[in-house]
Order: sequence, then structure tokens, then C-alpha cells
Amino acid sequence: MSAISLQKIYSGKVRDLYHIDDKRMLMVASDRLSAFDVILDDPIPGKGEILTQISNFWFAKLAHILPNHFTGDTVYDVLPENEARALEKRAVVAKKLTPVKVEAIVRGYLAGSGWKDYQKTGAVCGIALPPGLQEAQQLPEVIFTPSTKAEVGDHDENISYAECENIIGSELAALVRDKSIALYSEAAAYAQTRGIIICDTKFEFGLDEDGTLTLMDEVLTPDSSRFWPADQYQIGMSPPSFDKQFVRDWLEASGWNKQAPAPRVPQDIIDKTVAKYREALDLLTA
Ligand SMILES: Nc1ncnc2c1ncn2[C@@H]1O[C@H](COP(=O)(O)OP(=O)(O)O)[C@@H](O)[C@H]1O
Ligand SMILES: [Mg+2]
Repeated sequence: MSAISLQKIYSGKVRDLYHIDDKRMLMVASDRLSAFDVILDDPIPGKGEILTQISNFWFAKLAHILPNHFTGDTVYDVLPENEARALEKRAVVAKKLTPVKVEAIVRGYLAGSGWKDYQKTGAVCGIALPPGLQEAQQLPEVIFTPSTKAEVGDHDENISYAECENIIGSELAALVRDKSIALYSEAAAYAQTRGIIICDTKFEFGLDEDGTLTLMDEVLTPDSSRFWPADQYQIGMSPPSFDKQFVRDWLEASGWNKQAPAPRVPQDIIDKTVAKYREALDLLTA
């Protein structure tokens, strides 16, 4: 990726953060792909730009539900013109927020770790569900299943709502839960009209200097969510992968033990993955 004349302050699995001033930072989405919390050696060309465009679309569309980390500034306000031009599709000038220390996961359907949990316990993250639900079935109501926010290299762990309250306080926990369910519900209803089922997703929030809950990071991308093509949806089986699930399925089938390093991903899997990310962007925003 092209050089950036700001000071780097953090490098996450996918995004790099750069210092602008006390209130703002530049968030740049790379082409790195993380699966099972391990960063793959092979980048997915164009992925960072696509993710940023999808997030920006949702930030704007959902802004009436709660404030987001947009500052209103563009990369041209904080970078030399040549750098700004190279990064404009993958970078945003964001408010520097104090992260809320949980990941806000919302589920509308039964899949992934939720499905495994349900088969074992009849509940998902301690939320009891009716018996007899099948894989990929829509839940009777949208549920909030928070997890911890792991440090780099660690895995996030599901926690109960009571644990979430212990970590961030019961008032904030209720607000995070209610806003997360509202964001998911509106987005899922919209996506359905575009042929995409949003099975589940993860939101991240921060507090601004006034303590106002603010939506940050990325929103409703194929990285932070399970997107299913609506026309191939069928109860009782894991729907065909739309997005990162593609790489995840390949990795699962490879027999990898999910400890770094991950195996090298074949070129055709990379190509198909880029195409899927682009398809998601086009379907949602066209
Ligand atoms: N507006 C913001 N203010 C402060 N931190 C933010 C903001 N937006 C995103 N972040 C944080 O920046 C990091 C983004 O990098 P990412 O690659 O997604 O990290 P991770 O590996 O933790 O998923 C995350 O730790 C996220 O919580
Ligand atoms: Mg992240």
C-alpha cells in the first residue's frame, strides 16, 4: 500500500489507524483478510476499498438511529493530494473515540457458533430458544449475543448479557443492545430487498468526549457479518458462502488447526472472494 505521511498508531487485523490530532484519526482499510482471527499471508486485492464503501453506505443510511464516527472531513483535508487520491476509497477521517469494551453481536438466524451452541445447549450464549430449530432457521426474534473484545492474536469469547453488564455497566449495556438490534433490524430488512439475507453481524461502538454512544469501525460488511444470497437460502443447511465464508470453508476443508500461520490460499479462491465482496457492494448500493 502507498506510503502515508501520518504517524501510525495502531495496526489491527484489517485496518490501520493514523494520528491526525487529539480528536481525529485516519482509518485505512487494507486488503488483509483475517479468518478465525488469523491474518492470511495473501491479500485480497481491492477488498479494503470495497469494505470502506460498504461501511460508508451503512453509516449514512443508519445515521438516524445513532451518531457515527464520521467527522465530515475528507482525506483531502488531512493528507497531501497524491496520498489522498491513492487512499480516498479505503480511508476515512474518523472521530477518535473511547472504545466500548464489548463486541455487539446480533443474530437473526441460527448459524456458525450460534448453531453449534444451540445443538449442545438449546440456547445461544445463554438465551434459551424454542426446541426443534434447524440450521439457518430464522430466530423467533433478533437476539443480542455480546462477546469480549480480544487483544490482537486472541480470540473473542462469547459472554452472557450479565457479563456484558459487568464489563460496561447495565445502563450502557442496555443502550448498546437496543441500538444494535435496531441497526441490524433496519439493515436486514433493507438487504432483503436487495437479495441478501444478513444472518448475523457485529457492531463496535465508542464514546465521544461527551460520553455519547457512537457507531464506529466497520458496519455490516461481509467481514463483520454473514451475508447469504436470498435466492439460495434453505432451512436445514448452511447456505452457500457469499463472502469471507468462502475462504473460511476452504480453510475448514484444508484441515488447518486454526493456529497461525494459515495455509496459503489458492489464487482461484482469492479471485472468487474478491468477486463476492464486489457483488455484495453492488447489490447493496446499486
Ligand atoms: N472511531 C474509532 N475510534 C477509536 N477506535 C476505533 C474507531 N474505529 C475503529 N476503531 C478501532 O480500530 C481498530 C480497527 O482495526 P481492525 O483491523 O478492525 O482491528 P481488529 O483486529 O481489532 O478487528 C479496532 O480495534 C477498532 O475497535
Ligand atoms: Mg475489526
